[in-house]
Amino acid sequence: MKDNQPTNEKLNQLEDHMTSNENEKLTTNQGLKINNNQDSLKAGDRGPTLLEDFILREKITHFDHERIPERVVHARGSGAHGVFKLTKSLAEYTRANFLSEVGKETPVFVRFSTVAGNRGSTDLARDVRGFAVKFYTDEGNYDLVANNIPVFFIQDAIKFPDLVHAVKPEPHNEIPQAQSAHDTFWDFISLMPESMHMIMWLMSDRSIPRSYRMMEGFGVHSFKLINDEGKAHFVKFHFKPKLGVHSVAWDEAQRISGVDPDFHKRDLWESIENGLFPEWDFGVQLIPEEDEFKYDFDLLDPTKIVPEEEVPVQLIGTLTLNKNPENFFAETEQIAFHPGHIVPGIDFTNDPLLQGRLFSYTDTQLIRLGGPNFHEIPINRSVNVVHNNQRDGYMRQQIAKGKVSYEPNSIGGGCPFQAMMKEGGFVSQEARVSGAKVRERSKSFVDHYSQAKLFYNSQSQPEKMHLQNALIFELSKVTIPAIRERMVSQLAFINKELASKVAAKVGVEVKELKFPNQSIPADADPS
Ligand code: HEM
Repeated sequence: MKDNQPTNEKLNQLEDHMTSNENEKLTTNQGLKINNNQDSLKAGDRGPTLLEDFILREKITHFDHERIPERVVHARGSGAHGVFKLTKSLAEYTRANFLSEVGKETPVFVRFSTVAGNRGSTDLARDVRGFAVKFYTDEGNYDLVANNIPVFFIQDAIKFPDLVHAVKPEPHNEIPQAQSAHDTFWDFISLMPESMHMIMWLMSDRSIPRSYRMMEGFGVHSFKLINDEGKAHFVKFHFKPKLGVHSVAWDEAQRISGVDPDFHKRDLWESIENGLFPEWDFGVQLIPEEDEFKYDFDLLDPTKIVPEEEVPVQLIGTLTLNKNPENFFAETEQIAFHPGHIVPGIDFTNDPLLQGRLFSYTDTQLIRLGGPNFHEIPINRSVNVVHNNQRDGYMRQQIAKGKVSYEPNSIGGGCPFQAMMKEGGFVSQEARVSGAKVRERSKSFVDHYSQAKLFYNSQSQPEKMHLQNALIFELSKVTIPAIRERMVSQLAFINKELASKVAAKVGVEVKELKFPNQSIPADADPS
């Protein structure tokens, strides 16, 4: 570890995997010292290269295989190491060790990202930002895979591939990149009233942050905290930047993108290098399980916030980023976050978006990181040692001793055993589930406009103007008038003045919608 650099358990573990090439001789991957790195082996001075040249072959082959697929979403990212320090105990609410003992420090790695753009795209796109935090706790990895906007576009995971296909560049010509809106995105959104709350946030200044250091983070879904007695509270997670929330204006964003598309990456890197460590307060909104139905929205609906006036955010800790990665690929690129990585004392809810996410992340990482052993990549390893009977597979690193890799067994031979709850074994909350097997949206998810209105009305006059201009800019890029018309007609349910101003600028009229408050059935004519 460099002098004056913070250190923690995770950084010490990573250190064991690091190599320094300083003052070393060049070798092949087999450790053979290389005598000439300038010329390939040829038959004669001006002759053809020989197939025998294993040094050339190894070098070129490795180079040919340097790339892995970028993330299917959130491809562009920047990350840093840091520490989470607990300032207020939640032991009353959760068994989670890292949330119980005041003063306890837990190593973290955080990756910020844009969602839609590819790896080489600009940091300043109008987009949601990812805010993914891996807590390397004593009880295993806990991932809070959060965004900088507290709600989401859709209510059910089955719509995620549609959303992403609509937002990504169009398939026939790969246009446009993340910087401007297009037919497919607004076509989909105008047919999905449930996205209206998110659209208000996305068209606001929130989606063009000044810096990653000046962004909030939200877990979005309701999760559960479970205490020693098995009592549950719904919880919403929040990160609040110590520097406050700041954005840039759209024309600033455009210019910065042209001059320095790495603006956020550079800002994060330089502030950490200069010792200006970015910090966030970590907070929770807690709702006793018995109050589940007290609200006029469903706590399981990820398009809704829990208003902070009704349930204040309690600040319980500080997240500090204090060390840049040594190697972007090994750390920021190979890290694998997953909302399903939880620890005892934290549990999921039945939010249908969250439930689908629980499948998606490992599934995508199996292909992105090349097989079932990506948990062994140094950045993904938990700080406690992994013991189980899983074995083999591509790129296996761990060498398990003994002849037994099944359980139960009577031979012994080093086989690990399940842990009781009091030994830290994870137990899912015992929750009652009943009902008919149905493929339909809960009626409690149907109000798509109240919180969109709440957000729009909470904006100051200049912020409202920015939001309006964003909609005008975006919709003016849509080539199909029917889509523009449907979208302004959706806006009328949020604010009539906003709708008519945008409509006038994009050359359409506000019309009455056939399906005002529900997603349009796939077999219906949306015109
Ligand atoms: C990344 C799926 C909703 C936050 C990803 C990735 C997938 C995915 C496949 C790429 C992971 C990788 O390659 O390692 C989904 C699905 C969703 C969903 C299926 C809904 C059904 C959300 C929501 C949030 C979110 C609601 C925020 C609360 C993130 C973040 C990343 C990510 C921050 C980037 C993680 C990183 O930095 O590596 N998502 N996502 N996603 N997702 Fe989601």
